[in-house]
Amino acid sequence: MAEKTTITIIKCDVGSLAGHHVVPSPLKNIAEKSMQNAEKKGLINSHFVFNAGDDLELLMVHQKGENNPEIHKLAWDTFTAAANKATELKLYGAGQDILKSAFSGNVKGMGPGVAEMEIEERKSEPIVVFAADKTEPGAFNYPLFKMFADPFNTAGLVIDPSMTGGFKFEVFDVFENTKVVMKTPEEMYELIALIGTPGRYVVSHVWRAEDDLICASTSTTKLALIAGKYVGKDDPVCITRGQHGLPSIGELLSPFMHSYFVEGWMRGSHWGPLMPVGLKDSRCLVFDGPPRMVAIGFQVCDGKIATDDEGKPLIADMFDDPSFDLARREAQEYSAVLRRMGEFEPARLGPESMEYTTLPKVLEKLKNRLKPAE
Ligand code: F6R
Ligand code: MG
Ligand code: MG
Repeated sequence: MAEKTTITIIKCDVGSLAGHHVVPSPLKNIAEKSMQNAEKKGLINSHFVFNAGDDLELLMVHQKGENNPEIHKLAWDTFTAAANKATELKLYGAGQDILKSAFSGNVKGMGPGVAEMEIEERKSEPIVVFAADKTEPGAFNYPLFKMFADPFNTAGLVIDPSMTGGFKFEVFDVFENTKVVMKTPEEMYELIALIGTPGRYVVSHVWRAEDDLICASTSTTKLALIAGKYVGKDDPVCITRGQHGLPSIGELLSPFMHSYFVEGWMRGSHWGPLMPVGLKDSRCLVFDGPPRMVAIGFQVCDGKIATDDEGKPLIADMFDDPSFDLARREAQEYSAVLRRMGEFEPARLGPESMEYTTLPKVLEKLKNRLKPAE
């Protein structure tokens, strides 16, 4: 059997230019050099460095499998070097997501977010990787449901016989640290009942039901280790596989034709409309947002990303297209509606899911003035 190929995306907020809005070029350059060296050494076969707002994203294609200590160490060392540079430049939030000082074999639980997918390459293997800033992994619940379970989004569910068997969703409960696999279309209503609460129930994997072919993987890794305790939002990443018996690339992108609401805007404490953007607009500005998502398309070919004539990976910047203008426009309008409400819910998240809150302090201050109500 042919060697399997692994797609790994590991992200980390190592510091930003002018607040929390973008990863500047000196940090990306460090990442690029580190990835090039790893390629020369044969550790990875291909890479692509980009940013989702203030998160530095390392996309690596290799043949070492998921959770490989060498691959995770490479990411960790790259982020540490970039964070040192950020400290040197006094960038804002330098080393923000480097939560531990010593590496112990896997970046999970150490601050960075990870999504991985080990695959047996099909005859042709189209992939889309999504990365977002100012939101959380549950932000993928709604689009993943639409891609793999909603026949109004994915025509293939109705007219491609290899998809009519449905899909299996693995749902992770952040509070209880449990997971459950649910099958659509049979359990569609129960699935929505859970994942409609994206702050608690997060889709972590999706498989095609008839043959358990893996087709989506998200970054619930950090959440898994901190389950039961709220420690804030983790800007998420997601890998999806498309075509030939899976949703087409166009069906994977269709959920983003419209904006939808996600948790995590400004101070991790507000609802915000998701804005799909091209890489050039991958920076969070108004009220530190609105929450943005980029999408990177490529073909996996013999353990690598398919390349151009110069050997550079062929990367498609999927949201850099006028067909997402409507969603961007909606995101601007919805932003204005929410911001008009200031700190009144539902613009602000409920107290249980806010990343920052002064509520206990306010209550403490009022303690002596609180009287039993009649
Ligand atoms: C960071 C983020 C930002 C910050 C905000 C306040 O990823 O989402 O919205 O929470 O800019 O940042 P501090 O507390 O560092 O001044
Ligand atoms: Mg930051
Ligand atoms: Mg971020």
